[in-house]
Amino acid sequence: MTTPKTPVAEAVTDAGTNRAAADFAAAYPVRPVPAPGPVDTAPIATTPAALEELDQLWRSVVHETRTRGNDIHLPISLAFAERLCRAYPDADAELVRVATLLHDTGWAHVDESRIISEGFAGDWRKAAIRYEHEKQGCDVARRVLPDLGYAPEFIERVCAIIDGHDTRPVAHSMEDALMRDADRLWRFDQAGIALASTWFKMDPATYTDRLAAEIVPELITQAAHDMAAADLNRSTALLKTAVIR
Ligand SMILES: [Fe+2]
Ligand SMILES: [Fe+2]
Repeated sequence: MTTPKTPVAEAVTDAGTNRAAADFAAAYPVRPVPAPGPVDTAPIATTPAALEELDQLWRSVVHETRTRGNDIHLPISLAFAERLCRAYPDADAELVRVATLLHDTGWAHVDESRIISEGFAGDWRKAAIRYEHEKQGCDVARRVLPDLGYAPEFIERVCAIIDGHDTRPVAHSMEDALMRDADRLWRFDQAGIALASTWFKMDPATYTDRLAAEIVPELITQAAHDMAAADLNRSTALLKTAVIR
């Protein structure tokens, strides 16, 4: 298991990180970032992720999908990622898709007993196990992608997105931003609420309140804001959270 970096150590040692964040902020000064392409706010089940193209990659990480609900979280996040790529057609869609599919596979290679005890409690974003799952996710990417024909340069771009997806506060590129938004959007769907509310030991009303108060402001793109708002309206009505609280 890798030794986790601390946030302070990362800030001090990685000047390139700050430069990439500044470049991205300068390139997209309007936030949320307006969408040049179509924004689909229909229920995500109506547009599942594209069939077959990534099936070999899915097969190579089946073991990793069996931890922490990844077999629910990752496919739904990928479907949102594909939607976001249609809204932001200038982004490298293949990079976004592969990074999203793999981003949480590292959870399968950390101490499972610590996922809930540390990963979702207290100041969970800064928990050491969060850094560990990012590093382990990069290891998974470097293990499975070469055999599927992905170029070394592409694999390192995937890893640059996976590394820091939870613990780095800012995005470094549009592809990074779209992966981050996809990783949050799945929680607004009813399946995401059903699963993720149990991780945080919250009832659905408390959890959807938290989505509105804490997760919506973190969304980077306007398309993600539109999708989140539509899903939150649907999910809270369906689950009667105004009444069952
Ligand atoms: Fe993660
Ligand atoms: Fe995730």
